[in-house]
Amino acid sequence: MDPMDEAELARQAARAQRAAARAERAAGPVAVRVQNVSITYRTTFERVPTFKNAIVRFGRGQKAVKEIEAVKSVTFDVPVGTSLGIIGANGAGKSTLMRAMAGILPPTSGRIEVHGRVSTLLALGVGFNGQLSGRENVILGGLASGLSRREVEERADEVAEFADIGEFMDAPMRTYSSGMFSRLAFSVAVHMKPDILMIDEALSAGDAVFKRKATAKMSELMKSSRAMFLVSHALASVRELCNDAIWLHQGKLMMHGDPEDVISAYNRFMEVGEDAFNLEDL
Ligand SMILES: Nc1ncnc2c1ncn2[C@@H]1O[C@H](COP(=O)(O)OP(=O)(O)O)[C@@H](O)[C@H]1O
Ligand SMILES: [Mg+2]
Repeated sequence: MDPMDEAELARQAARAQRAAARAERAAGPVAVRVQNVSITYRTTFERVPTFKNAIVRFGRGQKAVKEIEAVKSVTFDVPVGTSLGIIGANGAGKSTLMRAMAGILPPTSGRIEVHGRVSTLLALGVGFNGQLSGRENVILGGLASGLSRREVEERADEVAEFADIGEFMDAPMRTYSSGMFSRLAFSVAVHMKPDILMIDEALSAGDAVFKRKATAKMSELMKSSRAMFLVSHALASVRELCNDAIWLHQGKLMMHGDPEDVISAYNRFMEVGEDAFNLEDL
């Protein structure tokens, strides 16, 4: 047989296998269910139309409200066993959706069900206190994520070893470089044995060696956790680590399916530009 055909056949077989696995997961229990979720940010700011008005009103500007619809009627299910990649341009609503699924931000409308204990790595090291040492922060973080004191202490050494930041583990975190900071943040998130792990752009930080180590750790976690969410600009990471994907654009869910298909539709969209793109091609 022509080697070209052989490669194509292998690709099609792999695709069929993925589709079967997807159908099997979909028939099982759900880890996260997002139903018709919309999220609008409302920010108020002082409207100061002219310098003269500002003076006249003595600085008491009019309050104006700006609304940003960051997520628009998004619906999808994440069955147990799913590793969901979330892709989309800057400002597409990826981080907003993740914050809502993590329970940090309530949706403006719609409903989110989460079955399991969530560990998030949404913004690197949010919740770390710069005055405390890495080790102290790890212990606090673990307790905050619902583990017992003993479980946390057992894990603190694993966390330190994986982060590989040496004696900095016992120095105040304000003295850390951004690389050390992100290594420790990643290490904490993956060592708390979460049922559901959410990672937002965390792989973009750190050097190549750590990135490889982090990728390996995430594939290992995929086997033990109920579900994993990965927001990444690195489409190769999504392809490698995810068995399901969604694509958001200006808050809307454009596509949900096999990562290969979603990534190629997204790439096509980015190449030709929004205007030329025929949504019926999807
Ligand atoms: N805290 C906030 N207050 C107001 N607007 C916000 C806030 N966070 C994000 N946005 C806006 O919501 C939209 C989606 O942002 P975001 O979820 O961060 O997108 P992404 O992670 O895909 O880049 C953008 O228009 C962004 O400017
Ligand atoms: Mg973001």
